[in-house]
Amino acid sequence: MPINRSQLARQLRGHVELLAAGGMREVGVKPRRSVKPQTAKAPAAGNPAPVKSSAAPASPKSAAGFKPVIVPSVALDELKQHASPQARALEPVAEAVRVCASCGLCETRTQTVFGTGDPRSPLMIIGEAPGGDEDVKGLPFVGRAGKLLTDIIEKGMKYKREHVYIANVLKCRPPGNRNPEPHEIEACRGYLEMQIEVINPKVILAVGLFPAQWLTGKKIAIGKLRGEVHEVNGRKVICTYHPAYVLRNYTVETRKKVHEDVLLAVNILGPGPLVG
Ligand code: URA
Repeated sequence: MPINRSQLARQLRGHVELLAAGGMREVGVKPRRSVKPQTAKAPAAGNPAPVKSSAAPASPKSAAGFKPVIVPSVALDELKQHASPQARALEPVAEAVRVCASCGLCETRTQTVFGTGDPRSPLMIIGEAPGGDEDVKGLPFVGRAGKLLTDIIEKGMKYKREHVYIANVLKCRPPGNRNPEPHEIEACRGYLEMQIEVINPKVILAVGLFPAQWLTGKKIAIGKLRGEVHEVNGRKVICTYHPAYVLRNYTVETRKKVHEDVLLAVNILGPGPLVG
């Protein structure tokens, strides 16, 4: 889907803020061929010209015109407790999320919800977006749906929840728990991509329609995406129903399908402990 100039500018701004929060002060940009020669000495071919980043992590009003809520990050505190290279690599990403002002959700959030769990985990579970409880606590899946997810992990898969890494497609709560909008998903895309790259999980379990479509790139119903192992960019992706959907449709049939789906992951990963 084509995006307009202001969406592009917002995404670019978010990306530069992400890089700046990660400590990057210069970005290599190859000059376009059509650009007229400049009076200053042009950089040698293949030698990118440095462009200064002026991104300020916590400006009161973002370039995109938003006034972000910026408060300390629960996820950053949690990552500091972990002594792994993955945790160190995630810290700048969590910092970039903490100050993110890439879409309007930054104005209505209580705080960002970056992710939780062990960044060394071979299993990543990806949900849709923080709900009310998550927005208050700064952690994913801590409400009713989260309790069911914990049961699925601990009773169904026989893993410890703290050995799994859990995150969402969106890092901020959509007001009233409405569905994420396409531009919000795009604005947040880079953060989840970096989380996946750093954690490098063997298996990703997508819970719900939005993460399932995000991960597989297939815009089809969750009922058609579940029940099989998808190979996506060399990773194994399994899709299943969202725990909130299961709570609303608490039938033997729905629970059986979720159980079958998570066993696909267990068959690949083997018995726990997942890390240790
Ligand atoms: N639903 C989600 O998709 N994610 C959460 O973190 C909580 C509820």
